[in-house]
Amino acid sequence: MAEVIGLGLTHYPALSRPGNTFTRALKFALEDPALPAELRSVENWPAEMQEEWSGDEGLAATERHRADVETYADDPNVWGETSADIVKVQGAPEAGRWIAQHVIDAGFDLAYSYKIRDDRKFPHAFIHTVSYLDMARDGFPFRLLPIAVNCYGKYVIARRGGMRGFAEITGEVDPPAPSPQRCMDLGGAIARAAMDSPWRVAMVASSSWSHAFLHDRAWHLHPDVETDRALYKALQEGDVDAWRRRSADDVALSGQQEMLNWYCLLGAAEEAGLKLNWSQFVETWICNSNKVFAVLD
Ligand SMILES: [Fe+2]
Repeated sequence: MAEVIGLGLTHYPALSRPGNTFTRALKFALEDPALPAELRSVENWPAEMQEEWSGDEGLAATERHRADVETYADDPNVWGETSADIVKVQGAPEAGRWIAQHVIDAGFDLAYSYKIRDDRKFPHAFIHTVSYLDMARDGFPFRLLPIAVNCYGKYVIARRGGMRGFAEITGEVDPPAPSPQRCMDLGGAIARAAMDSPWRVAMVASSSWSHAFLHDRAWHLHPDVETDRALYKALQEGDVDAWRRRSADDVALSGQQEMLNWYCLLGAAEEAGLKLNWSQFVETWICNSNKVFAVLD
């Protein structure tokens, strides 16, 4: 009989970079010519954001943020690894075939592939996750089955996946990402496949929560802290329905596109009867995104 747990964490790239680039998104937003003049004045920012920023342009607050997510500083990346270093992670092709078989049988038209494109490095959402799960560099002996969710949807592809000024945001929309409900149902199907399997399985959601650079309503200055807080409270209280009620547009307008991974996790946890055992909400107004860590078992 399988043993199944759920984990959630961030894959925030700035954690692995040397130096302090945590306020890069905020500085980019402040340089945007479209930013309304009054929002250039710190005194017009939310009080907690002012507190983090004031005095030293956020330096102390960002160092606290780094400490809160428990990482270390080094060079050239925080572990002293260079681009010449190769991180080997074992794949799990038999688990891939098992999961795809079960999930497609359950009615999800899952795409799958046997290899990544030769010209691409392993995508950041996966490799940073492995990196942070092995923060102390003890080694990562587990086999990994990456399952990608389209977290771009309507607004991110036109922005080429990154930070864009408002002048470059044309209003062009792409087809939507899967809805939160569909992601929860997919998580449920994956959990059933995992529970039917002979393996010990950790289902891992990897993403920070609301991203400032996708939070148009705040002119990209800060993430949607209030909505993140509300969803975290619902997570703590086991109120899965509060998550299920969010629409795809709610998710996009809050800059929470990557949280679709967490919707998969919550759907999986519900199906597998997992309960929140431990969690941490690391809040920030100036470091682009709130980071949440969770263990469900
Ligand atoms: Fe990401």
